[in-house]
Amino acid sequence: MEQDYYSYIRKMFHRLSYVYDLTDIFIMNVRTEVVDFTDAKEGAKILDVATGTGKQAFAFGKRGYEVVGIDLSEHMLKVAARNNEYDNIGFILADAARLPFMDQHFDVGCISFALHEMPLSIRKEVLQEIVRVTRIGSTIMIIDYSSSSEKRVGGHFVRYVARLYESKYYAEFIHSDLNSLLKEYGIEAIAELSAMYGVVRIIKCIRR
Ligand SMILES: C[S@@+](CC[C@H](N)C(=O)[O-])C[C@H]1O[C@@H](n2cnc3c(N)ncnc32)[C@H](O)[C@@H]1O
Repeated sequence: MEQDYYSYIRKMFHRLSYVYDLTDIFIMNVRTEVVDFTDAKEGAKILDVATGTGKQAFAFGKRGYEVVGIDLSEHMLKVAARNNEYDNIGFILADAARLPFMDQHFDVGCISFALHEMPLSIRKEVLQEIVRVTRIGSTIMIIDYSSSSEKRVGGHFVRYVARLYESKYYAEFIHSDLNSLLKEYGIEAIAELSAMYGVVRIIKCIRR
């Protein structure tokens, strides 16, 4: 099952890597909102997990933070590396379920639009790894789709469109209780912003 997930994700993001940045036009503002909401201290070491083409990593890096972005897809990372003009941002090919970093190395952990790409078993491993590599008391930012958007006007439309291009794990994710899962791993949600007309949640958490 896990092998199926890894090859599925690598293939899917190989294809998407050529067009992925086009979708960022719609979420450009979310990137800046995430950085403002994180409010990390000057010079903080930030890990952007499942960084993709690095758009969120760049938004942090522009503010002078030390940023490392990791991803499973070499093709997504190629785009990130090609666009990287910053000495304070680096990209590494790695599995988020087995992060190549020491315990409590980072001041901030961030994962945007990636948890819904994972089956629950992997999602759990990834959260555990984010907790391991971030300091006790540090900030963890979780950005992903909100299930409440489905109850709003247009929510059914969003769900329909999302299913056309999101991974096969999206449907389970959107109906799952993310806050409870976070809590299980010692990630306590302390504040939340809603973005893109309620379609996206930006959750600010403390690593306990
Ligand atoms: C929809 S993209 C989001 C990229 C980026 N975080 C953003 O906000 O645009 C999801 C990314 O998760 C990555 N991914 C999925 N599972 C992963 C894993 N186990 N380890 C690392 N990256 C993973 C994919 O390769 C893909 O680049």
